[in-house]
Amino acid sequence: MQLFTLLLPILFSVMSYASIKTAHLIVVNIFLLIYLVKLGLLLLNSKKLEVFTKAFRIPEMLVSVLFLASGGYMLTEKPEVSTLQIVKLILVFASIPMAVVGFKKKIKTLAALSVLMIVAAYGLAEMNKKAQTRKKDVATEVNRIPGTEGYSAEAHGELLYQKQLNCVSCHGPQGDAMIAGAPNLKKSVLTESEIIGVVRHGRGMMPPYKDLNEEELKALAVYVKNLQL
Ligand code: HEC
Repeated sequence: MQLFTLLLPILFSVMSYASIKTAHLIVVNIFLLIYLVKLGLLLLNSKKLEVFTKAFRIPEMLVSVLFLASGGYMLTEKPEVSTLQIVKLILVFASIPMAVVGFKKKIKTLAALSVLMIVAAYGLAEMNKKAQTRKKDVATEVNRIPGTEGYSAEAHGELLYQKQLNCVSCHGPQGDAMIAGAPNLKKSVLTESEIIGVVRHGRGMMPPYKDLNEEELKALAVYVKNLQL
């Protein structure tokens, strides 16, 4: 067990953010399932709860460590933590001692409350995800012809970045997803012409976008520049 905990940082350092996120999600679901089963057993048949707890002692420990470690890792990689995430963290950390005591001492209300809090934290995480996708809604009726009335390079760039090209898959809708080794665009210090250079020619893991015309490159650069803090 201790060896396993020691190996985790090494494991995480070779995994990408996206795969750790997926692992976190899977682990959270297993964690939740274990606790729902335990709660069911506690309420219906506490003899069976003892059998289950004994049989699942090691897997439960593994899942808990993985759950907290992957969650902790994701937090350190996030440039900013939202209020929703803080509430989620408080719920998770408050629920742990409650669950430990509740299940050990067979205090049904305490155990039920702890599971409820974990479920609530899970719900918050889902809400957070929805809130983020909602922000992605981008107008598709955008004037794309520079020099004509109502043209905005910013809006054109947003459309290209968010919808027409695949920038979001590495940089995320806010520019700060940092997937596949992508830097946080909010913290970028590049000028417009430097951004144009990176997008046109690509760099490292980032593919080149050779088919974009000058106006499109300029619009992207204006949009990405405005993401900068
Ligand atoms: C496959 C993932 C991927 C995609 C898709 C992608 N990027 Fe990148 N981007 C990266 C990576 C990785 C880097 C860092 C490259 C390096 O320095 O090695 C990067 C770097 C950048 C930089 C430089 C930031 C800085 O401060 O150095 C800009 C600007 C940028 N990307 C904009 C875009 C735009 C705009 C798009 C869409 C047209 C896009 N990227 C699509 C992965 C991606």
